[in-house]
Amino acid sequence: VPKQQSVQLSKTGTVGVLTVNRPPVNAVDAGVRSGLMAGLREAALDTELAALVIVGAGRTFIAGADLSELGAGISNPSYGDTLAAIETFPKPVIVVLHGECLGAGLEIAMACHYRVAITGAKMGLPEIGLGIVPGAGATQRLPRLIGPVAALDMLLSGAPIDAARALDLKLIDAIAEGDPITAGVNYAHNLVASGGPVRPTRLKGVATNDFDDAAIAVLVRAHSKTTKGRTTQRAMIETVKGSVTLPFDEGLALEKTLSDASLLTRESLALRHMFFAERATSAIPSVGKDLKGLPIKAIAIVGAGTMGSGIAMAFGDAGYRVTLVDAQAEGLERGRKIIRSTYEANTRRGRMTAEAAKAATARITPTLDPAAVADADLVVEAVFEDMELKKKVLGQLDRIVGPRAIIATNTSSLAVTELGAATRRPDKVIGLHFFSPAQIMKLLEIVRGDETSNETLATALEIGKRIRKIPVVSADSFGFIGNRMMLDGAFREAEQMMLEGAGVDQIDRAVEAFGFAMGPSRVNDMAGVDIGTLVRRQLMRRASRVDPYCIVSDTLTPMGRVGQKAGKGFYSYSADPRVGELDPEVTGIIERLAAERGITRSVFSADEIVERFVLQLINVGADILDEGVAYRAADIDVVWVHGYGFPRHVGGPMFYADTLGLTHVAERMRYWYDRKGSYWKPSALLERLAAERSSFTNFDRRRT
Ligand SMILES: NC(=O)c1ccc[n+]([C@@H]2O[C@H](COP(=O)([O-])OP(=O)(O)OC[C@H]3O[C@@H](n4cnc5c(N)ncnc54)[C@H](O)[C@@H]3O)[C@@H](O)[C@H]2O)c1
Repeated sequence: VPKQQSVQLSKTGTVGVLTVNRPPVNAVDAGVRSGLMAGLREAALDTELAALVIVGAGRTFIAGADLSELGAGISNPSYGDTLAAIETFPKPVIVVLHGECLGAGLEIAMACHYRVAITGAKMGLPEIGLGIVPGAGATQRLPRLIGPVAALDMLLSGAPIDAARALDLKLIDAIAEGDPITAGVNYAHNLVASGGPVRPTRLKGVATNDFDDAAIAVLVRAHSKTTKGRTTQRAMIETVKGSVTLPFDEGLALEKTLSDASLLTRESLALRHMFFAERATSAIPSVGKDLKGLPIKAIAIVGAGTMGSGIAMAFGDAGYRVTLVDAQAEGLERGRKIIRSTYEANTRRGRMTAEAAKAATARITPTLDPAAVADADLVVEAVFEDMELKKKVLGQLDRIVGPRAIIATNTSSLAVTELGAATRRPDKVIGLHFFSPAQIMKLLEIVRGDETSNETLATALEIGKRIRKIPVVSADSFGFIGNRMMLDGAFREAEQMMLEGAGVDQIDRAVEAFGFAMGPSRVNDMAGVDIGTLVRRQLMRRASRVDPYCIVSDTLTPMGRVGQKAGKGFYSYSADPRVGELDPEVTGIIERLAAERGITRSVFSADEIVERFVLQLINVGADILDEGVAYRAADIDVVWVHGYGFPRHVGGPMFYADTLGLTHVAERMRYWYDRKGSYWKPSALLERLAAERSSFTNFDRRRT
């Protein structure tokens, strides 16, 4: 749709209808703004018009602003002028909201005089998720419509509300069913008949009674997901305070200043980087846009353990029919229990209706019969992590399933190529590396074996998106993307620092203060220290590593200090099974391991811990890019934010490296290499990019 046509004016009797038509989601850009302005001018000249309705064409109203405008700067007409033209229109303006009405879409709606939502509409201000203060009047109009407390609540949450809640809050005036234009025109006719006036939001007062610092603090705590460690909320609080204390136009000016400033913060740049990174992962040149995946209808999962049951739910939740097979009656029963208790918890916490849980459960058929996988289009193997067992299972599956079926493995460490060779269809064997809990975690590492075909890869990427995961493609090498960086980079370095004198808890605290969800020892204790040892044992068959390499974990495992499940690991768990205390036994072990290697111990600062932990991630990440294990630096960021708890508002390790400057990063790597050698050898790609004064962002740009 050409720009000048992205808004159309039509007429039904005495009601004008402005239709925003910019597929797929009517995102606002300069064309939409100028289209609205032109439509308003034309409608104003029509003396017969009694009211004006604004609607969105297609399946949604306006899902937000066109984010590509943000980098370049907003061109004329501005949001301010456009919304002022709507608000000061001499006849009543009614907006009809259906589908998604987010960000700039809601801001436009709030400048209209009356709001009607079609059942199912979602209204929200997701800007906080991008580190942005809305800049088209949301912080001034929303408090006038629903009060400052509810307004700040919506701004800090970023999550949309439904029509019923919006009506309760008086954000909208009515709920309607059916076709948006009909609903809008009917509402307009009734309004005109009853003499409903123009009603500019800017003229409304703000009810201030319950808006104080205590109320604000409560909201900030309630929305820790979007406020913890971040800064955007401060500017939002200031603008909402401004809506209470300042005249409307001064409030708008304050909002504009803070909104413009928010666009330049590191936080916002990082969050926007992640937003685009998450949407770019499936663009892989060898797959191309024209290559379509195979149709996948029936799914089978083999192995009903922790992962198998989670994977079954991930597919079941997306509407797939799933057969879940286990070789052991107890194994299958355990899987059934995991699924039942997960759905029970979901319903109890209001995440799911009882009917939805029942339907999802019914889509999963547990069975002990290996032949039940016969009609599956995709089988995901999730048995124990053992090469010989997995080869045997894949060989059997190869004989049972149809010739077009894809066989996937959920291995976290074994060579997918070698597993593929155990079948007669290595081109149809691929790694689907889910993260635990598989029904929740967004990341899906797709591991491409040497023989895996483009068609199989395309199918895996499509299916990954269908089950609402973020698929990232990795080559089939040591630890794929995530575990390689964790083991060679960060976790190995964490143990190295323990040997050199840093406390187990000191490292966790420093890394958590940087923004990680959990420090390395807490991760190990939760996931099972033995699991890591097992994974490394498998990996070492692929390639060796120089000592010391995660030797603290590997010493704790045979002692039975395997983590929370044993009541002891890096920490001891006596009082609360989840809150660990330091244990002198562990300190003693670390001191002994250090002494055996002649490592001198010293005092660490939190800064040194974070620097070494993160630099190692960056350096191994650069190696992975150089080797072609990951295709884009941004893919690595997605893996670390969604699979390993790297703070999203820092943008992932590679983007963070860019914000530090690669010259600085390479310099610090060399500094440590001079002192520590070995694992500190700067990556060749890092050196190259630093010498060119380039960045990982540039590296990615050259690839796409
Ligand atoms: N646990 C994690 O966090 C995690 C994360 C990613 C990947 N993985 C990988 O997922 C796989 C499964 O791990 P898990 O933690 O779910 O293990 P688990 O021990 O919980 O479950 C394995 C299940 O497989 C069944 N099984 C064994 N042999 C079988 C056979 N021949 N046919 C059918 N079923 C068989 C067992 O009875 C058991 O129920 C492993 O390869 C593991 O490396 C695990």
